[in-house]
Amino acid sequence: MLTERPTQPIAGQRPGTSGLRKKTAVFMAPGYLENFVQATFDAIGGAGGKSFVLGGDGRFFNDRAAQVILKMAAANGAARVIVGQGALLSTPAASHLIRLNRTDGGIILSASHNPGGPDEDFGIKFNTPNGGPAPEAVTEAIFQRTQAIERYRMLEAPDVDLDRIGVHELGGMEVSVVDPVADYAALMAGLFDFAAIRALFAGGFRMRFDAMHAVTGPYARAILEGRLGAAPGTVINALPLPDFGGHHPDPNPVWAAALMEEMFAPDGPDFGAASDGDGDRNMVVGRGIYVSPSDSLAVLAANAQLAPGYRGGLKGVARSMPTSAAADRVAAALGIESYETPTGWKFFGSLLDAGRATICGEESFGTGSDHLREKDGLWAVLMWLNIIAERKESVAEILGAHWRRFGRTYYSRHDYEALPVAEAEAVMTGLKGRLGSLPGTLVEGMRIVSADDFAYQDPVDGSVSRGQGLRIVFEGGARVVLRLSGTGTEGATIRLYLERHVEGPEGLDQPVQEALAGMSAAAEALAGIRAATGRAGPDVVT
Ligand code: G1P
Ligand code: ZN
Repeated sequence: MLTERPTQPIAGQRPGTSGLRKKTAVFMAPGYLENFVQATFDAIGGAGGKSFVLGGDGRFFNDRAAQVILKMAAANGAARVIVGQGALLSTPAASHLIRLNRTDGGIILSASHNPGGPDEDFGIKFNTPNGGPAPEAVTEAIFQRTQAIERYRMLEAPDVDLDRIGVHELGGMEVSVVDPVADYAALMAGLFDFAAIRALFAGGFRMRFDAMHAVTGPYARAILEGRLGAAPGTVINALPLPDFGGHHPDPNPVWAAALMEEMFAPDGPDFGAASDGDGDRNMVVGRGIYVSPSDSLAVLAANAQLAPGYRGGLKGVARSMPTSAAADRVAAALGIESYETPTGWKFFGSLLDAGRATICGEESFGTGSDHLREKDGLWAVLMWLNIIAERKESVAEILGAHWRRFGRTYYSRHDYEALPVAEAEAVMTGLKGRLGSLPGTLVEGMRIVSADDFAYQDPVDGSVSRGQGLRIVFEGGARVVLRLSGTGTEGATIRLYLERHVEGPEGLDQPVQEALAGMSAAAEALAGIRAATGRAGPDVVT
């Protein structure tokens, strides 16, 4: 039975580009999820006759939310919804299914790398028919609808058995429950030389993949252990759990400390990797060597042609502004375009859609290519494996060779988290007000050549985004960048990004924080974060 239920606007339903993220309890409150889903359908001109993809990262409330959304889609007249078995889909797999099936978009349930559980976070995100996150015009239209909503449509029906693969019927709508991995694995098999990677594993190459009890477990098991012959047990924490085992499913040296320890042990595996809650982020580690995401992007760009899907070369490389310029140096050497965009994957989407960039990445453990419209954790891992298989070198050798050829860009991000909002804003406005006077001055013995508040004009649609981060560049290309996080949920977070390029051949093997000590001192002299906040140092260093 179809019902129209009266409702009224609920405060705080403004989605960002990574969707709407709140505490799980907020999402579970009566009408909260329903209002947002109805607003989404209304904002895209209704769901009547349309098809969608639906799935999530398996966190607490994922299964319940999926049933609600299916019944609402049916009540709104949708023709078909493609759902991952068990309501699971990684974000990249969802993006691929949208594109493969040419659906009218998709709904992804995730709060990415944020912890999950009844007391933690939940999230929902709408992706458009190109497979990418909804652009601001769409998220704004959704928000406007949430403010005017008066009713939502709901089908009264039993739950669909989402554990059973196959075609189900729900109030006249088709629900196709699919294997969440199959189509994604086929896409990967087309991009990478699976035979070469299989031979690598057959030769005794040892790998550890930490799925962090999040959605990539089934993907990594099926692809690495299943199709590529990695030893059983290569993938750890492979079972997606509603609370991610009580951990942060965030692949960085802090939250994947156990993996780091194993990789730095004397007889550690040859290669290590981890992925986040919804599978779009990745961390890559060699035996005894950590690969910074900025370096990873540069290495992937420099070696992409070793993988079958990229044999024809790259159209361009894009990185977010705070990501190190290491990838730019590769682009210059390859004679291809490089792009510096504001933080956030949506800016890459426009370049990928227009065929101007092939590979893109962010310092925040996100890398991807034009094979879909999200960042893709497992894709980056497979690309590394393909490169290792072709070059027949260790991660340390590949990085060393890269630095000798392009120089090394030392890089680190320092996060000052949960600051009082007023304090954080005072630091930023203080520095912003002084930017104009900085060029030409010396800080810690280094000359500043430019200082600005980063603004970006999209080369495809001409749109301009201002206020994207304070950028101070020194002679030789060293940089200090400051911006406020747009994703934190508690107080304000200042992200300080430090970078210094060393051309070599000397000085390529310094400890990172040592190599950046001068930049860190310069940043404090310029912005005075510690002085203003009373903090002794950053909360997280990556
Ligand atoms: C963070 C990352 C950024 C990424 C975003 C969404 O945003 O820094 O690169 O695009 O998460 O995954 P921030 O908190 O810095 O605004
Ligand atoms: Zn994510």
